[in-house]
Amino acid sequence: MKGIILAGGSGSRLYPLTKYVSKQLLPIYDKPMIYYPLSTLMQGGIRDILIISDSANINSYKKLFSDGSQFGINLSYCTQEKPNGIAEAFILGEKFIDDSNVALILGDNIFHGENLQKLIKSSITKTNNGQCVIVGHKVPDPERYGVAVLEKNKVIEIQEKPKFPKSDIAIVGLYFYTNDVVEMSKSLKPSKRGELEITDLNNLYLKKNKIEV
Ligand code: TTP
Repeated sequence: MKGIILAGGSGSRLYPLTKYVSKQLLPIYDKPMIYYPLSTLMQGGIRDILIISDSANINSYKKLFSDGSQFGINLSYCTQEKPNGIAEAFILGEKFIDDSNVALILGDNIFHGENLQKLIKSSITKTNNGQCVIVGHKVPDPERYGVAVLEKNKVIEIQEKPKFPKSDIAIVGLYFYTNDVVEMSKSLKPSKRGELEITDLNNLYLKKNKIEV
C-alpha cells in the first residue's frame, strides 16, 4: 500500500496565519503539523508516500523532508494548482499510485489513541482483500462533517454535512482505497462548490458495496 498526504487547501479559517504559510506547516507542540499524519501512515508500515500541496508551499515541504531517507521512507511531491477537492488527490497521484492500493490522510488530521496501529493495519489488510475502509469518529456536531449512517456495523448511507444528521459518526480524514480509486475519481463531477468531493467518491463505493467504516 502507498500513501498520500493532502496538504494544500485554502486554510481560510486560520487567516491571517495561513495567508503566508501552509496550514500543515504550522507548529503543533514542537513539530510542523504534517509530522503527525506522516507518522500515522508510517505506523501502518507505509513507506512510499506522496505529499501534495499548492505551488506556493510545495518547496517548503521538500526542504523539510527531502527524499524521506532519514526516516527510512520514500517521499515524492506533487502540486495541486487549486483546492479542487480532496478526491482530486487520486487523479494528481495517478502515476505515483500505479498499480497499488492507496491510503489518503489529510495533512491537518492528528490521530492518537489506543489500538491506532491495529486499526491502521487491519484497514490495510481489508483493502488488500478488496474492501475500502474509511475512518469514523463520534462527534458532538456531526452536521459539520460527512456522516456515516450504520446499521449493524454496516454503512447504509453517507451524508454530506446534513442539516439533520442520522448518526453522530463523522468521517474523518483517513481513507484506504483499492487501486480502482483513480478511475472512480475520474468519473466524479465537481459539486456545487466546484470540488471533487470525497463523499461522492465514498458513495460510489457504497453503491458497489465495497466500503466500510
Ligand atoms: P478543508 O477543511 O476543506 O479546507 P481547509 O482546511 O484548507 O480550509 P478552510 O479553513 O478554508 O475551510 O480541507 C481539509 C484538508 O484537506 C486540509 O488539510 C486541506 C486539504 N485540502 C487540499 O489539500 N486540497 C483540496 O482541494 C481540499 C478541498 C482540501
